Amino acid sequence: MRIDVLNGVNLDLLGRREPAFYGGGSLQDLETTIYAWARERKLQVRCRQTNHEGEYVEFLHAALGNADALVVNPGAWTHYSWAIRDALEPFEGPIVEVHLSDVDAREEWRRQSVLEGLATDRITGEGVEGYRRALDVLAARRDV
Ligand code: DQA
Repeated sequence: MRIDVLNGVNLDLLGRREPAFYGGGSLQDLETTIYAWARERKLQVRCRQTNHEGEYVEFLHAALGNADALVVNPGAWTHYSWAIRDALEPFEGPIVEVHLSDVDAREEWRRQSVLEGLATDRITGEGVEGYRRALDVLAARRDV
């Protein structure tokens, strides 16, 4: 199973940005951990991050036909980017939406997700562990 893990805007600042919400580890730590979890589960994972919305859209286009599932954390774009929603719409495999922080327990504007109805699973507020759970959810689907 080929999985693209796509982190969006400002997630390159992990470790330097509001550790109470996002933890103390860097994006590189996160990606290294995700690759290790993927190996244990025999999943073929590719991690990517960008601060450019159009590039994120290109990542989603590149996933069409090339990835079987997606793990997406679009950062703040989650709450307003209809372009990202449109780009996700044609993807036929499972889409797991992950947020490190508990977005529903924060500011009102973080409660809206443009992925609503598109994401097959949503994992929030579990920090880095949320990505592990996302891989477990996808591995379980593969095994049925
Ligand atoms: C985030 C939550 C978003 O509201 C925020 O803008 C982020 C990170 C999270 O992982 O908790 O950049 O997606």
